[in-house]
Amino acid sequence: MADSPSTIPSARRTAILGQGYVGLPLAVQAVRAGHHVIGFDPDAQRVKRLRAAESPTPDVPDDQLASALTSGAYTPTTRPDALAGCGIAVIAVPTPLRGGAPDVSAIRCAARTLAPHLRPGALVVLESTTYPGTTEEVTRPARTSAMAHARNSGG
Ligand SMILES: NC(=O)c1ccc[n+]([C@@H]2O[C@H](COP(=O)([O-])OP(=O)(O)OC[C@H]3O[C@@H](n4cnc5c(N)ncnc54)[C@H](O)[C@@H]3O)[C@@H](O)[C@H]2O)c1
Repeated sequence: MADSPSTIPSARRTAILGQGYVGLPLAVQAVRAGHHVIGFDPDAQRVKRLRAAESPTPDVPDDQLASALTSGAYTPTTRPDALAGCGIAVIAVPTPLRGGAPDVSAIRCAARTLAPHLRPGALVVLESTTYPGTTEEVTRPARTSAMAHARNSGG
């Protein structure tokens, strides 16, 4: 049986932002490796299908998705507050090429969603295809501003 969320150590509580062809297989493998995974995606239709164990990719057969769900260790959600308390966060959002350069707006958006919920010392991994330096350049402002906000509000 899965641990209740409040007893799961942050090192085994993993957020994966983007539940597409990259994020979903990663989520299911992380569950198999013993992590409790919050699979965040703003696409409500996608999350609804994931909760019904309908996989969008043959890389994750429906029965594997169903077993991750029934273990209680995989939670697909559109709710940002579910990201609280994660010790590991993986960003796997789209970065379509525009004019020959990756459009990093979804990374920026994911970083802003994640930042207020990050624990000190959390590991953030950027899986999206992009140019070198994106993790620092795009995600650092969101992390810094969230920390400043927490300090100012006594958090
Ligand atoms: N598919 C591959 O084989 C592959 C391989 C290597 C790298 N990549 C890279 O990985 C990244 C993701 O690719 P993919 O194929 O999984 O894309 P995808 O389109 O299958 O899935 C992306 C998911 O991210 C969600 N999303 C969009 N904005 C978001 C946000 N702000 N916060 C959280 N989730 C958000 C979308 O709703 C979608 O479900 C891209 O940068 C891609 O280039 C893909």
